[in-house]
Amino acid sequence: MITDQKPFAVNPNILEMEYAVRGPIPQRAAELEKQGRKIIPCHIGNPQALGQVPMTYLRQVLSLVEEPSKIARERQLKALFEENPSSNLREEDFISEEILGISQDILTKSVTGMGAYTASKGHYFIREAIAEFINQRDDFDPRNGINADPEKIFLTSGASQGVKFVVDLLIAKGNDGIMIPIPQYPLYSASIKKVGGTQVNYYPDEEQGWVFNRSILEDAYTKAGKDGVNVKGIVVINPGNPTGAVLDEQSMVDLIEFAQEHQLMIIADEVYQENVYQGKFLSFAKGLGTGTVPLVSLHSISKGFLGECGHRGGYLELRNPPKIENSTMDFTDLLNKQASVSLCSSTPGQVLTYLMVKPPTENSKSYQRYLEEKQKVLNDLHEKAVMIREAFSEMDGVECFGETGALYLFPRLNVLPEGTTDFDYCMALLEKTGLCTVNGSGFGQKEGTHHLRIAFLPPKELLKQVLPEWIKFHNQYVSK
Ligand SMILES: Cc1ncc(COP(=O)(O)O)c(C=O)c1O
Repeated sequence: MITDQKPFAVNPNILEMEYAVRGPIPQRAAELEKQGRKIIPCHIGNPQALGQVPMTYLRQVLSLVEEPSKIARERQLKALFEENPSSNLREEDFISEEILGISQDILTKSVTGMGAYTASKGHYFIREAIAEFINQRDDFDPRNGINADPEKIFLTSGASQGVKFVVDLLIAKGNDGIMIPIPQYPLYSASIKKVGGTQVNYYPDEEQGWVFNRSILEDAYTKAGKDGVNVKGIVVINPGNPTGAVLDEQSMVDLIEFAQEHQLMIIADEVYQENVYQGKFLSFAKGLGTGTVPLVSLHSISKGFLGECGHRGGYLELRNPPKIENSTMDFTDLLNKQASVSLCSSTPGQVLTYLMVKPPTENSKSYQRYLEEKQKVLNDLHEKAVMIREAFSEMDGVECFGETGALYLFPRLNVLPEGTTDFDYCMALLEKTGLCTVNGSGFGQKEGTHHLRIAFLPPKELLKQVLPEWIKFHNQYVSK
């Protein structure tokens, strides 16, 4: 260490900012791993880190657009095979003409290839495909909905970047606030903290499956008003993180009416829209209909059944962009400015986002394999969630509310030894079993309650081994 160096004064907001999913428990897990311990990383929704297999369709196309010469090579090899059909190879050993065609088409439309910056908002053809996807998903009808507009769609390097763009714009002064559900995904608290804004908590009702209503929202809003906070927006995460809960329609209606009345922007984090295991996902865009509330919706390639977290892709869609005080610009223009400063989102992320919104169609050759792989991932996830929930029923004082969605369970620990916290519990669980979870306090929780969040991602075989150990650990820990 250089001793004569003067300490730097840095942004105090960043000094204070917290991010539990990469906090002390995962840090301890990394230390234990270095010492040779087997760690089961359930602290983060990072599916491929736990063995989830990438979708063939996405990876084949991505590899071909990254190395276009392989398209011609693949065709040459196939021609050789056709001339010499007695070889040991089979037709399935070659990348299909359909995939080669899609890859070629992407390269043609992107014009400048994978190594060049794109437009700040992302490639136009991808934004068009996203608009089409949104309209199809929401059964768009001009009589009761808004047509998704490619000009109001921004490709982002993961949904996280989209959230930061919006939070940066909304918070102008220290008393500007954004309402967030408690418990929340710490991206929101951290992004608000970073720009020196005010986090305004609202508390969905855990025992009713994490639903909320007007009075829950109004209470939070009124309290913030009394504290001098100017609330600008409200975040909703559906399906939820960390709760995993799937939002009911009435909560959605109440939230939209509430936002309308108080002129708030809705930030709908819908990155888990494919992770609804029973029933159907309902988007805020659809719920809004022809309503005039400003709405930002976020989606990502990181979750669902793709799990392409490392490739950093996603999009932000804006509806009813508000005008800007003292300016001729509107919110879309300013988001564009934000995007321009980042130049553009990653091109592999853009391509994977394109493939996410343009999966193989039913009559295409790739469809069957795509469907099988998709269903395998989603069925496995659901089965794993059920296995973990069943284990909770054998743990003293553990209750888990809400329909299963997203990639997480957020059980409440009703019994903990005197003087201990959920942080202590999770740390002890890690030390004893290698299971790395996150303490409920890392997401915020109602005063006096204790929880943990577990991502239901480990392979079933591993869960079968570790769940009995967890049950044993739990029942011993709480009986202290
Ligand atoms: C609710 C929620 N929003 C956003 C993100 C960020 O995802 P991305 O990888 O797309 O940045 C996550 C990641 O876990 C999340 O859980």
